[in-house]
Amino acid sequence: MRLNSPQINLITKACLKASRSLIRDFGEIENLQVLAKGPGDFVTSADKRTEKILIEELQKAHPEYGIVTEETGVINKSNIENRWIIDPIDGTMNFLNGVPQFAISIGYEEKGEIKCGVIFNPIMNEMFIAEKGNGAYLNNSRIRVSNKKKIKDSLLVTGGPKGASKIKDKIYSEYINVSNNVSNIRKFGSAALDMAYVACGRFDGYWQRELNYWDIAAGLIIVKEAGGFADFFEEDVNLPLKKNILATNSNIHKELSELINQKTY
Ligand code: IPD
Ligand code: CA
Ligand code: CA
Repeated sequence: MRLNSPQINLITKACLKASRSLIRDFGEIENLQVLAKGPGDFVTSADKRTEKILIEELQKAHPEYGIVTEETGVINKSNIENRWIIDPIDGTMNFLNGVPQFAISIGYEEKGEIKCGVIFNPIMNEMFIAEKGNGAYLNNSRIRVSNKKKIKDSLLVTGGPKGASKIKDKIYSEYINVSNNVSNIRKFGSAALDMAYVACGRFDGYWQRELNYWDIAAGLIIVKEAGGFADFFEEDVNLPLKKNILATNSNIHKELSELINQKTY
């Protein structure tokens, strides 16, 4: 593998370190203290522990960098040039239920652009990694998006709505509309891994509303470096950390985007 920026080395090391306690916690799920954060959304002591290790490791090298995390919020607010975007466990609901579909996700952003990222599923031992201009990898092998050309043959993945969503009707009718035009749709419960799976060709495309930036920051560069296309739709300039994402193998991007923009509700 030829990825060698200092940032990617740091992220990889931090992920590996944090994953040790995460794997232990996953083995002891029933003993974890679970706190309700809101409907359909839980935070565990494992989320917090993992995030603490990640922040400590990354700050050792760059105490001055900004950090945007799910559990702690924004650290070093004034540094918007260099930021780590962290989700310590993406797929907490799966984690809590003993389903091994969750990941640590970290993106490194420079002047508003994600330059490199890592998505690591420690249970499956799958590390997706990419750096701008240097391709995307799963463990040590180069990955590419699928070459499916027609949306009607495509296998897509999506997620949501959250329990507290106010736009459930819209999300469900959009789902029906997309589902009528593709081969099939999956829902796996980890936005980061959904992006990573598009990058390595397991899925042809992914879309989802009501996400947070940390869910998909690392995935953006991994999909792009694997030859895919990822962009946001219906952005709200007042809520820069809230995102609606569309990520595909490029070939089906236009068609999927049109299906999502069709008013079906
Ligand atoms: C969640 C996952 C899930 C998505 C939710 C996210 P979390 O993140 O990415 O796939 O549907 O919208 O909040 O809470 O497990 O970090
Ligand atoms: Ca998440
Ligand atoms: Ca999380």
